[in-house]
Order: sequence, then C-alpha cells, then structure tokens
Amino acid sequence: MVSTKAPEDAYTAEPFVPDRGGLPALRRAAADCRGCPLHRDATQTVFGQGTADARVMLVGEQPGDQEDRQGKPFVGPAGRLLDRALEEAGIDPSEAYVTNAVKHFKFTQAEPRKRRIHKAPSLREMTACGPWLAAELAVVEPELIVILGATAGKALLGSSFRVGEVRGALLEREIHGRQEKLVATVHPSSVLRAQDDKDRKAAYEGLVSDLKVAARALS
Ligand code: URA
Ligand code: SF4
Repeated sequence: MVSTKAPEDAYTAEPFVPDRGGLPALRRAAADCRGCPLHRDATQTVFGQGTADARVMLVGEQPGDQEDRQGKPFVGPAGRLLDRALEEAGIDPSEAYVTNAVKHFKFTQAEPRKRRIHKAPSLREMTACGPWLAAELAVVEPELIVILGATAGKALLGSSFRVGEVRGALLEREIHGRQEKLVATVHPSSVLRAQDDKDRKAAYEGLVSDLKVAARALS
C-alpha cells in the first residue's frame, strides 16, 4: 500500500515563509502554516508581537491556552508575570518584540470541553517551526535576544542547550550566520510552578536578576 502521509522528518514551515514583505507578510503567511501537525488542533497561529525596530527579542516556548484563544503571545498568567519581571528589571515590555519557538499551542485534553493541558513540543516540531523564528530574527535584527527557558534555547542554540549552565550571562553566538548577543533565563511558567511561596519568590528574583543583565546589555 502506498502511504499518502508525508514522512515525519519532512515537517517544515519553510515552503510557507515568504521572502519579502516584512513582519506583516510573515504574520499573514504564518496564519496558514501547515508545516507540522500542530496547526490541526490549535485555534490559530500565534505569531510574534512587536515592531521591526525593537531592540530586544524575547523568545518563549509556545503559546498557552490563553494565547491560543487570543492569538497573541504571552497574554496569559506567564505573560503577566513576565511583564512584571521585565518592568522591575528596567525593560519596557511594550518596546520588546515577543515571540515563541513554536507558533501553535500543543496540548492534551482528556475529553472535549475539559481543560487543555500544555504539552512540550517535540524537537521535530521545534525544528519544523524554526524558519518562522529565523525570519523574525532576519527582519527585526534585535540587538539582544532573551531566551526564556529550555525550548527557546534549544531552538536557537541546539539540543545540548541547558538553561542552568548559561543563565544570567551575556552570550555571543552565531545564529543563522549572524553574530547574536543573548541572555538566557528560566521560563516564566517555571516560576508559577514553584512548590511554595518561598521557592516562587526565589525563582522570581532569579528571573528578574537575569533580566537585569539583559537590561544592562541594552543600556
Ligand atoms: N508561554 C510561552 O512560552 N509563550 C507564551 O506565549 C505563553 C506562555
Ligand atoms: Fe507551522 Fe509552526 Fe504551526 Fe507547525 S507549529 S504548523 S511549523 S506555525
């Protein structure tokens, strides 16, 4: 029997990415991306938000439940925490370009109408979605990239990336042929998942302290 299903390693957004037209063209095209299976169950593509002249690009993992419904990155609980931490660190959230490594929400759901539970994207899905992030980087050309958590780090720097090893330091790495400055920190959701108030406070302060390194690099 001949299979009509594309081989799984053929997942890629590449054919959907326009090579001109800036952010508006990218956003329009991303709405119709079928580069991997994640578009099937999600409500919509959640593309990056911000202007092409933003000096800093923040990269998260993937949209969550609220982001999937509203079509905008970091508008749920993790986003509110991130905005607070950014302000405390001295970065104006409205001046940042905010995006995710993967543009569709991946989740599990026990039954229809039950709560949708976030599921981490696979390496294959991250790789498939990579051309969108590469295109955003090429248009925005940020002075600094802030990596929020392991998925963003792996998407940009490869699968050996470990947040704990590099967080809070100003890094210089070549990404898609361009020398980039980066600061990595934990994902804001990990602060929300802390066991108790004491752990949460410590995790939040760690996030703010890493973001202050980013703020200094921009000043
Ligand atoms: N977590 C992310 O990584 N991105 C979002 O947009 C929201 C939550
Ligand atoms: Fe395309 Fe990325 Fe969505 Fe997959 S997750 S369909 S590659 S936009």
